Amino acid sequence: MSSVYFPPSLQHFEPRRMVFSTWVDHLPFAYDLVTALRPEVVVELGVYNGLSFFTFCQAMQENDIDGVAYAIDCWEGDKHTDHYDDSIYRDVQQHAREHYRGFAYLLRMYFHEALRHFNDDSIDLLHIDGLHTYEAVKEDFTTWYPKVKPGGIVLFHDVMARLQDFGAWKFFEELQAEHAETFRFNHGFGLGVLRKPGGQPRETELTGLLFDRDEASVKRLRQFYTHAAHFLEARRQAKRLKELIGAKKKGGQGKQAADG
Ligand SMILES: C[S@@+](CC[C@H](N)C(=O)[O-])C[C@H]1O[C@@H](n2cnc3c(N)ncnc32)[C@H](O)[C@@H]1O
Repeated sequence: MSSVYFPPSLQHFEPRRMVFSTWVDHLPFAYDLVTALRPEVVVELGVYNGLSFFTFCQAMQENDIDGVAYAIDCWEGDKHTDHYDDSIYRDVQQHAREHYRGFAYLLRMYFHEALRHFNDDSIDLLHIDGLHTYEAVKEDFTTWYPKVKPGGIVLFHDVMARLQDFGAWKFFEELQAEHAETFRFNHGFGLGVLRKPGGQPRETELTGLLFDRDEASVKRLRQFYTHAAHFLEARRQAKRLKELIGAKKKGGQGKQAADG
C-alpha cells in the first residue's frame, strides 16, 4: 500500500445520516468503495435504520454516480435486532425522500420475495446484513449470488461477531477458502468483502489494495480503515463539542441581554 493512499472519505466525507448502529466502524470504507466502483445497481439486504444504506447513497450522490440503490427489509426486526415498531421504517422513508429521491428505493418485503425483481448478473454491489445465523447468511448468499454481476462485489457485515448464535464469521471463512478474491476487516464487528470472478471489473487503487494477497499490504489496509473510523468518530465528537459550546455561548448572551 503506497504511503499516498488518500481516499475520498478522508478528503470530504461528512456522514449525513448518523444513527446508532455497529456499522459505524465501516462508514469510511463504504464511502470509498462506492466512490471507487461507481456501481449502477446497489442492493442491501437488511437496512434497519439505514446507516450503511444511506452511506452508499451519499457516496453515489456526492460523486455523481448514475446508479440506483435498493434497500430491502421487512422492517419488522429479527431475533438479533428484536422486533421494532413502524417508526424506524417511517424515518428511513423520510430520509430517503428528503435526500435521495429518484435513485434510492425501499422494498419493504422479505428477501426471498424481492428476488424476482432482479435479473441474474445485474447487481454491482450487494450488501448482506440480515439475520446473522450461519444458516440465514448462507441462504442469503446462495439465493442472491446469481444476481451479482461477474466482477461485482458482495459485502458481509458482522464477520467477526462471535456472540450468541451469530455465524456470519463461519460462513465467510468457508467462502474465503473457496474464493480467490476476498478481504476481511477485523475491526468493529468485522466486514467481509468478496469479488465474484469473471466479467470486466473496474480496477481501482482500492480494489488493487483489497485483493492484493501480500500479508503486509493486508495488514496496512486493515490498519488504515481502523484509523479512518477512529478519525471520523473523533471529528464528529469535536464538531459536537463545538456546537455545544456555541449553543452555550448563545444561551449565555441571551441571558446577559435579558439581565441587562
Ligand atoms: C442487522 S439489521 C441491518 C443493519 C443495517 N444494515 C445498519 O446499517 O445498521 C438486520 C435487518 O434485517 C432485517 N431482516 C432480517 N431477515 C430478513 C428477511 N429474511 N427479510 C427481510 N428483512 C430481514 C431485519 O428486519 C433488520 O432490520
